[in-house]
Amino acid sequence: MTNQKRFNVAVVGATGAVGGQIVKLLEQRQFPVNTLKLLSSARSAGTKLSFNGQEFAVEEAKPESFEGVDIALFSAGGDVSKALAAAAVERGAVCIDNTNAFRMDPDTPLVVPEVNIEKIKEHQGIIANPNCSTIQMVAALKPLYDRYGISKVIVSTYQAVSGAGSRAIDELLRQTKAALEGTDVNPDILPVGSLPVKHQIAFNAIPQIDKFQDNGFTLEEMKMIRETKKILDDEDIQLTATCVRIPVVSGHSESLYVELKEDFQMDEVRQMLADAPGLTLVDDPESQQYPLATESAGKPDVFVGRLRRDLYEPRALNMWVVSDNLMKGAAWNAVQIAEYIAAERQ
Ligand SMILES: NC(=O)c1ccc[n+]([C@@H]2O[C@H](COP(=O)([O-])OP(=O)(O)OC[C@H]3O[C@@H](n4cnc5c(N)ncnc54)[C@H](OP(=O)(O)O)[C@@H]3O)[C@@H](O)[C@H]2O)c1
Repeated sequence: MTNQKRFNVAVVGATGAVGGQIVKLLEQRQFPVNTLKLLSSARSAGTKLSFNGQEFAVEEAKPESFEGVDIALFSAGGDVSKALAAAAVERGAVCIDNTNAFRMDPDTPLVVPEVNIEKIKEHQGIIANPNCSTIQMVAALKPLYDRYGISKVIVSTYQAVSGAGSRAIDELLRQTKAALEGTDVNPDILPVGSLPVKHQIAFNAIPQIDKFQDNGFTLEEMKMIRETKKILDDEDIQLTATCVRIPVVSGHSESLYVELKEDFQMDEVRQMLADAPGLTLVDDPESQQYPLATESAGKPDVFVGRLRRDLYEPRALNMWVVSDNLMKGAAWNAVQIAEYIAAERQ
């Protein structure tokens, strides 16, 4: 398209795990970029990153950085979004925020394009990207929700370390080497956050992602519960989540028990999931085909398999849902939203 409108884009957290993937996707998708600002903290200012064959120096993110910016993609932690998103909006930018800062704000749409893209119209400057574990779950639930209604979901997650940022990836690799060499693994990063105790992730499974809440659930578990209700616009749906960090670099896996409101035929469910946008059905037990984290890495889709009717509740379905947390769980969902905004403004 020759007269395509091009946009001034800022990526906040460009040196991070999610930000790096956003920059890659903007390039791969040939997003109509006019100018690009790559922003980080003062620590990485001056780092060179490449985009479309050109080198860009990373700058420290400040309110003035957003002068003239049309679309700002934030993935530098909730505090940075809280400190800078308003400054970006004041200067006329639309912010697509990957952090937890605004997700439950009633004025901020929480968007998974395949599920509720119509909500972006309601934005007042900020559009929130849901939590990575929520995105892949709601993408898989949506076709079932629309066809049968859902009364209850019980989810257990098996989450990759990249969900906790690039330092957690380094930590897994370092600890794995140390454990194999028989030296001390010295846990330092996981669970992430200002928590007094850190645990070994190499050869382990940690049933804590983020801080414990007063009700005994962790913040990650409560994010999955609250965000799903908001995205499906259904306060009555019952959800229970147990979130576990496992020693995988990328790709979150989830075991879901889903109670539907109506009877279902397995063949119809299979067909609906196979046809749904953004979902890939991988479900052939005979040839041992089911979604795997290794197979999802670098791909935009949410993979669904291990479909089976529950043994005791005939209206319930068990399934296994896998997606690359840095792609659909973060960067790809954000870039999809940016593409909708760009298309609307052409
Ligand atoms: N990883 C995932 O799967 C995932 C999924 C969904 C949402 N998220 C959310 O996305 C955000 C980033 O996650 P990540 O995994 O990419 O983390 P990360 O790898 O640790 O990267 C953090 C990024 O934020 C920048 N940053 C830190 N403090 C800053 C400050 N004061 N001002 C400006 N930039 C600052 C860092 O820059 P420096 O290089 O200067 O430190 C880096 O670019 C988090 O809020 C996370 O919850 C992550």
